[in-house]
Amino acid sequence: MNGLSPEKRDKSTKPLLSKFRKKDERVVIEKIKGKKPPKVSIIKLWRYASGKDLILVISGILCAALTGLGYPFMSIIIGDISGSIINITIFLDTPNTINGSYNYESRAYNLEEFKSDINQDCLHYAYLGIAMLISATAQVACFMISGENMVHKMQKEFFKSLLRQDIGWFDKNSSGTLSSKMFDNMERIREGTGDKVALFVQFVSQFFAGFVIAFIYDWKLTLIMMSLSPFMIACGGFMAKLMSASVRKEAEKYAKAGAIAEEALSSIRTVVAFNGQEHECARYDKALEAGKIDGIKKSVYIGTGLAMTFFTIFSSYALAFWVGTGYVADGYIEPKTVFTVFFSIMMGSMALGQAGQQLAVISGAQGAASAIFEVIDRKPEIDSQDLSGDKPTNIQGRINFENIKFAYPAREEITVLKGINFEALPGQTIALVGASGCGKSTMVQLLLRYYDPVEGEVSSV
Ligand SMILES: Nc1ncnc2c1ncn2[C@@H]1O[C@H](COP(=O)(O)OP(=O)(O)OP(=O)(O)O)[C@@H](O)[C@H]1O
Ligand SMILES: [Mg+2]
Repeated sequence: MNGLSPEKRDKSTKPLLSKFRKKDERVVIEKIKGKKPPKVSIIKLWRYASGKDLILVISGILCAALTGLGYPFMSIIIGDISGSIINITIFLDTPNTINGSYNYESRAYNLEEFKSDINQDCLHYAYLGIAMLISATAQVACFMISGENMVHKMQKEFFKSLLRQDIGWFDKNSSGTLSSKMFDNMERIREGTGDKVALFVQFVSQFFAGFVIAFIYDWKLTLIMMSLSPFMIACGGFMAKLMSASVRKEAEKYAKAGAIAEEALSSIRTVVAFNGQEHECARYDKALEAGKIDGIKKSVYIGTGLAMTFFTIFSSYALAFWVGTGYVADGYIEPKTVFTVFFSIMMGSMALGQAGQQLAVISGAQGAASAIFEVIDRKPEIDSQDLSGDKPTNIQGRINFENIKFAYPAREEITVLKGINFEALPGQTIALVGASGCGKSTMVQLLLRYYDPVEGEVSSV
């Protein structure tokens, strides 16, 4: 027992050694910089959906597409109501019109007609409301029920396959990571296969319906309103590029700061023993300062990006009304068309932004599912659920270790057992003697078949 083996020493002092610290930092930074994390395809997210779930998903998609039509249809009603209000205002403002009725596009308009038009529009609103109530409830319910069913099944499969894994695999995957995978990733999958998908379909449908209605009502005005879109897209793209660069830099720097904090806290006894609190604080402060500068840069980019977006949006509104009123004055279009086109495009473009947000959640679920499916699909080398293999009916208790060579899967470079040979007869008591770390417990673990030896055979008859 005089001293630890080199490997044990490594383990106990790990956080204090700078070479380990650098490695830890590197791992964190590589994780952030890293190539795109693996993702499963969108279809694969529904891998555990039963036939009933798929029917629910398809019904959910149809209902969401219907819900998406709601806002664009509302813009038609808004246009109609504005048209009626404009007509009646003109009628009331010009009482001297022939026979007391106002003639707009050779159509007589009076209070009676106004009331009936508005009543009609209000009824349309009410119908739309009822339709929305049904379709929105159905879309969310369908997706959430099917999502819940799937995640429930996935959770069972995940836990089952966790228990199936060999001990060597658990050496490489800490139980903390696994339980957080179980909860965090499942939550993200639940989110990304539930109502967020419904919302995504709804917003995409709203986007298309909005632009189709606008084009049908007046394609010229629609194109004019869209003329500033390329500018907005260019601004957005440029800002996103600048932002992602500074977000990455910021994350790298904060990861370094995090590694310093983790190191100091995990070896807090050593820090206190050397009275190193001040030193660690100063080191952490310095690392934080670097991250702060990138954080500020990022905020400026976000601010400018948002400002440019709003500037473009409002400019396109101004342009629409300027050109639209010109068209009305020329008698090219009715005033209500301006409103319908304006609101349709507004609803459509708003929806595009919101669809993007849902897409981020869905893509998060794809990443989370990849980590879960990797575990579910892993077939361990020592498979406790495999029914094949020898099934001895009668065991006497003769244990034989034959030329056993072994290295732990988590540390393949270090050979723990270098050719062990012994036989234990039934009823015989055997003592394994050796320095700490020489491999006594390892031999017992091989006997229990936690691991398979690299060479040789453990047998018992
Ligand atoms: N799960 C593991 N993964 C990687 N290396 C391991 C693992 N378990 C033990 N080791 C390493 O294998 C070597 C042998 O360890 P083992 O636990 O068998 O020693 P031991 O003889 O039982 O020691 P002690 O007398 O202290 O119990 C040690 O260097 C140890 O660091
Ligand atoms: Mg031991």
